[in-house]
Amino acid sequence: MELENKPADSHVARTDQDEYGKIFRRNMPYGNVGDHGTVFVGFSADQKRLARMLESMAGLIDGTRDALTRYTEPLTGSYYFVPSVESLRQLR
Ligand code: HEM
Repeated sequence: MELENKPADSHVARTDQDEYGKIFRRNMPYGNVGDHGTVFVGFSADQKRLARMLESMAGLIDGTRDALTRYTEPLTGSYYFVPSVESLRQLR
């Protein structure tokens, strides 16, 4: 059950799917004691949902920055387009 009155800078408030749209996501931890982190992967039929979530995390929408970014250091990021099976079949 979701808690009420979540802080505006909490990660779940910054990326609220009721506001930005639904995505499918996975975090994959990697590394060892000295060098470690997590790889975030988000899937969406609409790129704008992920882009808006990232803007919200960075504080670009209303000036409130995701508290998660105070404890993590983003190293890299990319978007990939995955064609549908139907469109791939049309290439045969
Ligand atoms: C290292 C980076 C990240 C970590 C460690 C992380 C971790 C988490 C955690 C722990 C939750 C709560 C899960 C739960 O309550 O069951 C969550 C929720 C979520 N995260 Fe992240 N996250 C990261 C990056 C991102 C990024 C970059 C995005 C989007 C671009 C994102 C989108 C979301 C969404 C959409 C939710 C669910 C929000 C809702 O309740 O609707 N996360 N994340």
